Amino acid sequence: MGFAAIILAAGKGSRMKSDMPKVMHGLAGVPMLAHVMKTATEAGAIKKVVVIGHGGELVSKAALALDAEVQIAEQAEQNGTGHAVIQAKTALEGFKGDIIVLYGDTPFVKPESLGKMLAARAQGNDVVVLGFKASNPEGYGRLSMSGDSLEAIIEHKDCSPEQCEIDFCNSGVVCANTETLFSLLDEVGSNNASGEVYLTDIVAIARVKGLSCTAITCDEEETLGVNSRSDLARAEQSFQESARTQALENGTTLVAPQTVYFSLDTLVGADVVIEPNVIFGPGVTVENGAHIRAFSHLEGCHISEGAVVGPYARLRPGAEIGAFGKVGNFVEIKNAVVGKGAKVNHLSYVGDAEIGADSNIGAGVIFCNYDGVFKHQSTLGERVFVGSNSALVSPVNIGSDALIGTGSVITSDVPSGDLSLARAKQVNKTGRGKRLMDMLRARKK
Ligand code: UD1
Ligand code: CA
Repeated sequence: MGFAAIILAAGKGSRMKSDMPKVMHGLAGVPMLAHVMKTATEAGAIKKVVVIGHGGELVSKAALALDAEVQIAEQAEQNGTGHAVIQAKTALEGFKGDIIVLYGDTPFVKPESLGKMLAARAQGNDVVVLGFKASNPEGYGRLSMSGDSLEAIIEHKDCSPEQCEIDFCNSGVVCANTETLFSLLDEVGSNNASGEVYLTDIVAIARVKGLSCTAITCDEEETLGVNSRSDLARAEQSFQESARTQALENGTTLVAPQTVYFSLDTLVGADVVIEPNVIFGPGVTVENGAHIRAFSHLEGCHISEGAVVGPYARLRPGAEIGAFGKVGNFVEIKNAVVGKGAKVNHLSYVGDAEIGADSNIGAGVIFCNYDGVFKHQSTLGERVFVGSNSALVSPVNIGSDALIGTGSVITSDVPSGDLSLARAKQVNKTGRGKRLMDMLRARKK
């Protein structure tokens, strides 16, 4: 059975020292929030509510862009995590299943851990908390256990010296039935060191009522919380390390793993070779057997089977490289299809275009897609050969098997099979070169 996820993302994140809300900071090419939303979806959330506050407009826009079905709840004042959860109540009107509360600043919680929590709920535990053994418990809420029973969560600021010694800590993730959760929250006060309504207080209240509470343990890496820019850098490193390990395990060759950067949504097929210093921005898919050569920068693109990209290639959003196509050094491709077996091997810009199968784009060819106001599209058929250093002034259509002479500036369509020359005719003047040079040298003496 599906559950509802409440994602808390209202906090300012003061320690980030940023005008941007914390959950909008980039991690593996996407906002931190995207990681948490993905976890919820993969664990089977049938509803998601994001609680916004600081920079709420930006956060809700990002959340809706990631998932149009997501619901937004506003927390006008940040009175604590418990208060934040209460703001999601209206959005969940009529929902009767389990709820899992996730924090927007804790991006690495695994869907499997949420699955274990739901299983513990199904076994009859009323409140289930995700805990971890902290190597340094400083700052975390402590889980006070009696055998398997969780008795209370004590916030660090409210811990007695004895409680400070506990190293079993709260990740922040809590699971309970909708009705249980909101009725417990109704009873939470703000009589604590921060004067806030703590979500964590529901445990002690539940125990007084005779409800059962327990904790599931996850790895400490999953609970890494991002509060500062150093935490964010650490989180990025941790993500990249596991993405590299995952890629190697999936059968991708990474010549120098430490120099390759992935995004949260990078998809790489089998037997792909990735040379050093390759950056995957968001939205990249690489099919089986492709070869990404060194120093390439890719985002929002699709590379088909057996294609070779780089070294030093830049593929921007909408670049679609056909099977066994070739994109060489210092080539930039944006919103353009390079057909099956087609080649753009040296120093070119291809924007807003379609290049048919087996065509060859010579060195230094530029697609002039922008007139200063509008973007225009060009289409090339199959087996077209464009001579080096030509400019194609879009929009133009070039038919299959056409041949464009080197250095041409093409401003109108070229029919299939034609040879098109759009450059000044060459003139040779007999002996004139040497005579001119001799004259100049004589002057220098
Ligand atoms: C919280 C837990 C603590 C746990 C730790 C794990 C509470 C009271 N404490 O502490 O037990 O060990 O996380 O990282 O829950 N937020 C809102 N509205 C608010 C306050 C917070 O949306 O009014 C959001 C924040 O944006 C953040 C999350 O809730 O995403 C956690 O809040 P934060 O203030 O960072 O809690 P911690 O002090 O880290
Ligand atoms: Ca935190």
